[in-house]
Amino acid sequence: MVVFNLSGLLALTPFISCVSAQLASGYSIGPLTTSGAKWGVKVCDVTNYGAVADKSTDLGPPLLAAFEACIDGGVVNIPVGDFAMSTWVTLTGGKAWAINLEGVIYRTGTAGGNMIYIEHSTDFEIYSSRSSGAIQGLGYEFHSQGEYGPRLLRLYDVINFAIHDIALVDCRFSQLFTSGGEVYNMIIRGANEGGLDGIDVSGFNMHIHDVEVTNKDECVTVKNPSNHFLIENIHCNWSGGSCFGSLGLDTDIYKITYSNIYTVSSNNMLMLKSNGGNGSVSDCLFENFIGHGNAYSLYIDAFWTDLALQPGNGVLYTGLTFSNWKGTCAAGNTRPPIYLNCPSTEPCTGIVIEDFAMWTDSGSAEYYKCIDAWGEGECLKGGSAHTAYGTSTITVTAAPTGYSAATMPNDLAAPFDISSSIPIPTIPTTFFPGATPATKRAYP
Ligand SMILES: *[C@@H]1O[C@H](CO)[C@@H](O)[C@H](O)[C@H]1NC(C)=O
Ligand SMILES: *[C@@H]1O[C@H](CO)[C@@H](O)[C@H](O)[C@H]1NC(C)=O
Repeated sequence: MVVFNLSGLLALTPFISCVSAQLASGYSIGPLTTSGAKWGVKVCDVTNYGAVADKSTDLGPPLLAAFEACIDGGVVNIPVGDFAMSTWVTLTGGKAWAINLEGVIYRTGTAGGNMIYIEHSTDFEIYSSRSSGAIQGLGYEFHSQGEYGPRLLRLYDVINFAIHDIALVDCRFSQLFTSGGEVYNMIIRGANEGGLDGIDVSGFNMHIHDVEVTNKDECVTVKNPSNHFLIENIHCNWSGGSCFGSLGLDTDIYKITYSNIYTVSSNNMLMLKSNGGNGSVSDCLFENFIGHGNAYSLYIDAFWTDLALQPGNGVLYTGLTFSNWKGTCAAGNTRPPIYLNCPSTEPCTGIVIEDFAMWTDSGSAEYYKCIDAWGEGECLKGGSAHTAYGTSTITVTAAPTGYSAATMPNDLAAPFDISSSIPIPTIPTTFFPGATPATKRAYP
């Protein structure tokens, strides 16, 4: 297990404005120094440290050497071209620096772990100024051996940073234990198989927006502990879906907003999952969700047996609002679009479900199921007793008014096969029907 380094929070710089109520005011998000200023300080081009864009020379040692030369400020530049990476790098420390990835890094090494691991850094940015940079994991070569392959990118204890305008393709993706970060204008594509994580994140004050994930695992998933996140304009395209967890002992997650989340052909639109454990998930908002053809939609499972039973009475889910959910689920008569399976020893409280209109793609009825869940709306039980009561269901036999919802272009294509290479996509210009990215792409 990785523990978030809270001492790093003290390094955050006070800041005046605040994008949304769920982000913490008084702290800056994103790098503190513009990329333009970093280019003016120093440029450490990997080709000056031995890198060759021949798709065979190992980029690992030149990338490490370029980083060491720019560790106190500047830009590590990976120019246009096809680079091969056979040894992984851990880039430790570093301040006021950036990686500009114009070319494509092809994974050629076969180790597990993390291809590019950045830790204990501040004021950092990894991006592509041409919106063309990519890391190609060629994960299908592992899948045929029954393995996942390495994670492409991992950030740990990185403060005030941004990741944007790059594509991460065919492997496990990014894992972030961080604060004051912005992740945007990204596309992540993996094969149709569980275990190929999209964005997994934990920490403080994160703004994740305008991201598309195709895989069969986590889309944008919050890990413990986390607080003050705004996650918006997310396209989960043939994915596992967005989750919290899995959660066990000492769960401490609060003030998370998901807004404008579009999910198609995925395992769920949102799943909060735990098995035993203690602590709480509180004060979160999940608004403006569109789903098409997902297995589950709004799903809390406090008995998620893929995680071994943890000690404790159960995680307390409290003060969670689900507002404006539209679209369809695959089969609402067997997998209810509202399914709250709360711990009987720690019932859910203060749950609000409002403006929920989802219909089923197959069959002519669906049902909602609440187990030991208290609050307002649909199958939730009202009042303040907050004791275990068992199961309450509602059967719906006509399509709810206003359930029909917009679709995104191309979203009915088949998923990516796990046995062949996945092409590198371009960064999309929209991630939610009708929404334009909050920050423009670096290059049109
Ligand atoms: C969770 O339980 C452990 C013991 O199993 C205890 O040490 C810890 O304080 C508990 N945490 C919370 C948040 O209740
Ligand atoms: C969604 O994923 C499918 C493959 O699973 C792909 O063909 C399609 O282009 C993707 N849609 C968008 C909008 O990127």
